[in-house]
Amino acid sequence: MTAKTLLELKNIEVSFKTRHGVLKAVDDLSLTVQEGEILGIVGESGAGKSMTGAAIIGLIDPPGRLSAGEIWFGDERVDEQPQRLRGREISMIFQDPLTSLNPLRTVGDQLVETILAHMPVSREEAEQRALDGLAEVGIDPERINAYPHAFSGGMRQRVVIALALATEPKLVIADEPTTALDVSVQAQVLDLLKRLCRERGTSVILITHDMGVIAQTSDRIAVMYAGRLAEIGGTREVLTNPQHPYTQGLMASTPSVDAKSFGQALFQIPGAMPKLDALPPGCAFNPRCQHAHERCLQERPSVQAGRAACWLLETEQEGAA
Ligand SMILES: Nc1ncnc2c1ncn2[C@@H]1O[C@H](COP(=O)(O)OP(=O)(O)O)[C@@H](O)[C@H]1O
Ligand SMILES: [Mg+2]
Repeated sequence: MTAKTLLELKNIEVSFKTRHGVLKAVDDLSLTVQEGEILGIVGESGAGKSMTGAAIIGLIDPPGRLSAGEIWFGDERVDEQPQRLRGREISMIFQDPLTSLNPLRTVGDQLVETILAHMPVSREEAEQRALDGLAEVGIDPERINAYPHAFSGGMRQRVVIALALATEPKLVIADEPTTALDVSVQAQVLDLLKRLCRERGTSVILITHDMGVIAQTSDRIAVMYAGRLAEIGGTREVLTNPQHPYTQGLMASTPSVDAKSFGQALFQIPGAMPKLDALPPGCAFNPRCQHAHERCLQERPSVQAGRAACWLLETEQEGAA
């Protein structure tokens, strides 16, 4: 089965004009999302993950803006007016459910209103869909007239998932959807999101700093560092054979439950991600990379033909040739 491309980002750039000059929060990023696929975007805080999500949906806060590149949804170029797709074709789930929910309205009213705003259905049908939607995310439909504050964090995020799926979008962008939840309910909420999207053939971009979340949920993984794509590949491939030293570091610093590593101190990548106004020349990861050589300090690598953006791989290839 060959999957069809639903979303394509071509060399996008999100930049901010500041006193220190123009900062690129997302720099020359290209990737695709296939129909029905879950793409995980992972990287440390400040890597540009949320800005990438915001760019797709046209929600970059000024003074930030999409300053270069193209965004394609199906065969339509959408970066000129992405608002058009928001809510209907693409919906968004944020870390804090209260960002998406109005505290003054019942969850039922919010579901019905969202459905009526985007779908050609009667109020009666919208109400039925709202009830079904709640049941699907494991909430007793009897609670349709409850207010958001009456639910726990995990239940609220379930309501948000119902809201995000209510308009039958083709793509859901979930930005740290379980980061604010208790560890004990994180997996349940992720599994729910995954199952409902799979059933509908809905594509998902799952944004998280947590390699563990990505590993358990995604079909493919994109690793971002300092606004740039470091590596992209199938989840199995990336987890079993991470190519970029940054990906290797992320993996080594992710807690694992296997007996071997239990109780051992976790690895930490030395140093911190550079600020956007202090990026080194060459590879942005070079100050933290134990393999960095001359070329890494001078030339910027890019992801090409299934290889990570790392000069090390180039050297290996040249050496092997
Ligand atoms: N108003 C702004 N002016 C300048 N830089 C900003 C502004 N808002 C965000 N940024 C920068 O954009 C970068 C990417 O942020 P973000 O996409 O939120 O990262 P992530 O979601 O990966 O943690 C960060 O380095 C952040 O400092
Ligand atoms: Mg973020």
